Amino acid sequence: GSNAMWGGRFGSGPDAIMEAINASIGFDKRLAKQDIGGSRAHAAMLAAQGIISEKDAEAIREGLLTVLSEIEGGTFTFSTALEDIHMNVEARLKEVIGEPAGRLHTGRSRNDQVAVDFRLWVRDQCDAAEAGLVALQKALLGQAEQGVEWVMPGFTHLQTAQPVTWGHHMMAYVEMFGRDRARFSDARKRMNESPLGAAALAGTPFPIDRQMTAEALGFDGPMANSLDAVSARDFALEFLAAASICAMHLSRLAEELVIWSSAQFRFVSMSDKWSTGSSIMPQKRNPDAAELLRAKIGRIFGANVALMTVMKGLPLAYSKDMQEDKEQVFDAADNLMLGLAAMAGMVADMSARPENLRAAAATGFSTATDLADWLVRELGLPFREAHHVTGALVAEAEKRGCDLPDLPLEVMKSSHAGITEGVYDVLGVDNSVRSRTSYGGTAPDRVRDQIARWKEALT
Ligand code: ARG
Repeated sequence: GSNAMWGGRFGSGPDAIMEAINASIGFDKRLAKQDIGGSRAHAAMLAAQGIISEKDAEAIREGLLTVLSEIEGGTFTFSTALEDIHMNVEARLKEVIGEPAGRLHTGRSRNDQVAVDFRLWVRDQCDAAEAGLVALQKALLGQAEQGVEWVMPGFTHLQTAQPVTWGHHMMAYVEMFGRDRARFSDARKRMNESPLGAAALAGTPFPIDRQMTAEALGFDGPMANSLDAVSARDFALEFLAAASICAMHLSRLAEELVIWSSAQFRFVSMSDKWSTGSSIMPQKRNPDAAELLRAKIGRIFGANVALMTVMKGLPLAYSKDMQEDKEQVFDAADNLMLGLAAMAGMVADMSARPENLRAAAATGFSTATDLADWLVRELGLPFREAHHVTGALVAEAEKRGCDLPDLPLEVMKSSHAGITEGVYDVLGVDNSVRSRTSYGGTAPDRVRDQIARWKEALT
């Protein structure tokens, strides 16, 4: 037979394949709680405005709680013929309370209904992302505190650049994830307006109170334009954009963990809890969690592109294309939360190897800049000339197969006669990092300042 909700003008029901392509209940059942919350707010408002009776509103509000407990308890039977979560809930409400259920949809449409449900869901995900980021920042902060003095190589082009500290490197990610948090909280603020009451697209002649439903659902107020309210999905796109940037940061850190845990680097040992073995190579301990994280990020980028593509050609207002928004966002959110939790766990449980970090820091002529700076400071050389003199000494050390501090003083002098014994003070990696005291620099005292600031911010 034809559809119980909208089949009045239809003679027959849909083709089975039509039903399959049209139904969203397989995934939008995840919106059940938001859908029922929105409907309860709407029913209360309808009664407060005298549009339905208090008695009917009470029956609807109670009945909806029964339906929610059935869904949460796993006893609810979802029907594909009823297309989506909105009609599944309403049809069940009718079975539970009878005739008053038919009054719930007064002054409302599925278009504003789905918009409000999805906004509430994405808003929760912004909060979840922030919580996940805080946990990750705390794990990084723990590592930074432990290794605030540990010297390691700093890289550019993945070539030895200058020594930095482990604490400084960890804190770099704390900053990045801090900005990610700010992006989610910004997006949340902007999306916190209610589309409910926009109805199908044009508003409604019923004397509804959109301010009241907006407040009941924790929104700052109603969206000002009913066409915009049912057409907009930029709130979901902002979430995906913030998620994509955050995912990119997660992936960079994951990549570093993969490199650092290799036998060639040996900067960190990943915990057994976050590693796997090989069925053929007994020595193996693979950083699978980091690799999977690095890979899963692609799904989040993909969701962002997919939804941008869905939306870019849609005339106002609602088009069924927009039903394709949810799976992308669900999948991206699930993988983001999983990735954040996995990264927090990996970071908290990994052990840096300070002696290896230190040994690596001393290789690759990492204090060449310190030598050049010394020539400027002590001998008054122009930096460009100091750079040249130092370059010659690096070439000499390379020829001899030694590091800069191993060059004898007479070799130093042959490159520039003014060089004295004092130069050796700046060639050690500890003095190198300790000297970089500019704001934001790698000197342990500067890093301690940043750790203290973040500890304060994260409590
Ligand atoms: N399942 C739909 C969606 O996810 C709900 C809105 C349907 N509205 C409509 N007029 N068919 O977008």
